[in-house]
Amino acid sequence: MTTPQTTVDVSVVGLGRVGLPLALSFADRGLKVVGIDNDPVRLATVREGRMPFAETGTQELLDRVHGGGSSHENSGSLLELSERVADAAQARHIVITLGTPSFSHIEIDMRHIRSALDDLLGVLAPGHSLILRSTVAPGTTEFVAGYLAKHRGFQIGEDVYVAHAPERIAAGRFLQEIDTLPCIVGGVGAGSGEVVAELFGAFRAPIVQTTPVQAELAKIWTNILRYTNFALPNLLMMDCERYSANVFEVIDLINRDYPRGGIAQPGFTAGTCLRKDFAFSEERSAAPGMLLAVSRVNESVPLFLVEGIRRRLGTLANRKVAVLGLAFKADTDDERDSLAHKLIRLLERELSDVTVHDPHVATPTPSLEEAIDGTEVVVVATDHAAFREPRTLATIAARASADCLVVDPWNCWGAAQVFAYASELVALAGDPGLSGA
Ligand SMILES: NC(=O)c1ccc[n+]([C@@H]2O[C@H](COP(=O)([O-])OP(=O)(O)OC[C@H]3O[C@@H](n4cnc5c(N)ncnc54)[C@H](O)[C@@H]3O)[C@@H](O)[C@H]2O)c1
Repeated sequence: MTTPQTTVDVSVVGLGRVGLPLALSFADRGLKVVGIDNDPVRLATVREGRMPFAETGTQELLDRVHGGGSSHENSGSLLELSERVADAAQARHIVITLGTPSFSHIEIDMRHIRSALDDLLGVLAPGHSLILRSTVAPGTTEFVAGYLAKHRGFQIGEDVYVAHAPERIAAGRFLQEIDTLPCIVGGVGAGSGEVVAELFGAFRAPIVQTTPVQAELAKIWTNILRYTNFALPNLLMMDCERYSANVFEVIDLINRDYPRGGIAQPGFTAGTCLRKDFAFSEERSAAPGMLLAVSRVNESVPLFLVEGIRRRLGTLANRKVAVLGLAFKADTDDERDSLAHKLIRLLERELSDVTVHDPHVATPTPSLEEAIDGTEVVVVATDHAAFREPRTLATIAARASADCLVVDPWNCWGAAQVFAYASELVALAGDPGLSGA
């Protein structure tokens, strides 16, 4: 096994929501890390010792490993920063954490990965390992290995190592799950798995070795399972509306004391991973359209809610509608691929006067009170913990218009109504703290 002449242990290419916490975590384990990103604003923020997004515990980690405000020239820092992908070759291990979107016609968009590979081609040397941490379509890791073999003549698995080690951590739980979630490693050729397993041995999580394509399939199907699991209660919610049934009561009937399985709760299901990872299977599916249908169900939820409001109130033109939540899921500041934005666009197409409140996101929004004042409709788009507190419902009951319609697919207050008037919700929620707010 060859070891290249390197000055750094590991480089992380793409300091996004996956890459930056990973780079910090490696540094926290004592590895010397170079973090690379082509976004100068992101690099400047990290150089100044500030996290560019919220991820539990990472600001403290950044303070610890980067010394807050130190630059990459600071030799005491375990984290160096660079905007040049080629600088990744300073490290023995190169971890790619770049975005892998899907084109709208259902095909993986590999442009970020291809661009990084081209930047690395000339600087890779025997002993380097290249690890795809990004979520990729089946076959991508073998493509990357083939690309390096074709253009540089490397024997993959013998002189350069290539593996897929997918990220399966949930937003907000990175630092906890990096040490607990089994780390899947799919290495190409004879030696890649071992080399990459050694790197991820820096964490306490068990390492499970497999083939590259099995690692790829395991990652995307982890997310397809979740995406499909959430589509079922969302479809059931729409069925229940058709039959004037209560979705929460039907879900309780399905799940109560039943030992086989269990259906999830309805809600907005999207975000950068779930909304596109299914496409990496769908693009070559043996059952074309099946996962597309799952996506269409989840993508229809905002429209279903808007149509439900129209059925109850008539036209939405010139009516004030307050949307609670912009983030794609509870208690994150990540708005990317959030269905709240789709909901707002649909409401605006109804000529509604939309106001929004979200206590977490970077986008400035009015206070809860301002958003709610005099509103005729409230839609809970994100089930942030703050919204689940009884005082949020109390604020709605006190400050919205007298017959305000509240749309809550999350059942935030236990009243078990997707569509209900605020007064009904207060009565149903039955919390004495709600009255007289
Ligand atoms: N966000 C999540 O919770 C999550 C979870 C699991 C897996 N994933 C997967 O991990 C990958 C990364 O996701 P993310 O959310 O961190 O993406 P992201 O968009 O937040 O981060 C990508 C980073 O790469 C940088 N970048 C883009 N092109 C570059 C280039 N050519 N050179 C250097 N830097 C470049 C961008 O500026 C950005 O900071 C994706 O494949 C995603 O599907 C994400």
